[in-house]
Amino acid sequence: MHGHPAPTALISGAAAGIGAAFAKALAADGYRLILVDRNREGLQAVAARLGGEIETITADLATEADIARVEARCREGVDLLVNNAGFGHPTEFLHTSIEAEIAMSKLHMEAVLRFTIAALPGMIERGRGGVINTGSVLGFFPSSTYSASKAWVINFSQSAAVKARPHGVTVTVLCPGFTRTEFHDTAGMNMTGIPGFLWLDADTLAAAALRDWRKGKAVSIPGWQNKTITALSRLLPMRLILRIHSGGGKRSLREATRP
Ligand SMILES: NC(=O)c1ccc[n+]([C@@H]2O[C@H](COP(=O)([O-])OP(=O)(O)OC[C@H]3O[C@@H](n4cnc5c(N)ncnc54)[C@H](OP(=O)(O)O)[C@@H]3O)[C@@H](O)[C@H]2O)c1
Repeated sequence: MHGHPAPTALISGAAAGIGAAFAKALAADGYRLILVDRNREGLQAVAARLGGEIETITADLATEADIARVEARCREGVDLLVNNAGFGHPTEFLHTSIEAEIAMSKLHMEAVLRFTIAALPGMIERGRGGVINTGSVLGFFPSSTYSASKAWVINFSQSAAVKARPHGVTVTVLCPGFTRTEFHDTAGMNMTGIPGFLWLDADTLAAAALRDWRKGKAVSIPGWQNKTITALSRLLPMRLILRIHSGGGKRSLREATRP
């Protein structure tokens, strides 16, 4: 061995979609990977495809025991932490079980919070490395508990970015729009009405996020489509945004919450 050891990257939700795309890109960049997901077979398939020495951790990051396990791994020291695992509910929040809502808040918020807090001090001490948290363009719009959790990811990541930056450590929040992954099938969403030009593929998205992270950007919004959608959240009046999200104002909350 000569020179510095390869940097390590811990990626959650790495068995599919955007997480698997991060794994592919970071393996090509020479990172030593620690891949985390609840889908054991998916994780093993990604690790086999990439080859080389890859650590895999099967963990359900909506449970205390597994969050604590991965938190401890983050505290041992990683150079890049990618908090990416996430999912959407197939139903509106008043029709979603409270257990499913709590699982989402644990995965999208508690796990992100605890892993970031576990990993950052080591990075700050070494004066390098960083964190990429996957938010969503929806985090700029009030539409659901999903969007609320992603708004938290965006706000928290920007706060962490300000604290980390003076130490040479970059925290970036990635805000994807429509991205071709297993996300929508898993959530039971029918996406046939979404025009093709609005979609990005996961590899393009992950490459853009890594470019932005290396440039030290706090917010990464890949694609002109997503930049435009995000800009609308600042330009349109909130009353109009809320009307659009409630179905053009035609359905009252009571109607929208009927089974
Ligand atoms: N795709 C989009 O259009 C889009 C847009 C905006 C933001 N995002 C965000 O991007 C991130 C990645 O999503 P994706 O599109 O790549 O979705 P994906 O293809 O469904 O991949 C997500 C991965 O995370 C895993 N996962 C889900 N819940 C988990 C848990 N409790 N513990 C551990 N792993 C868990 C999934 O496992 P299972 O297969 O077992 O569920 C899956 O392997 C998410 O945070 C999502 O909210 C996606």
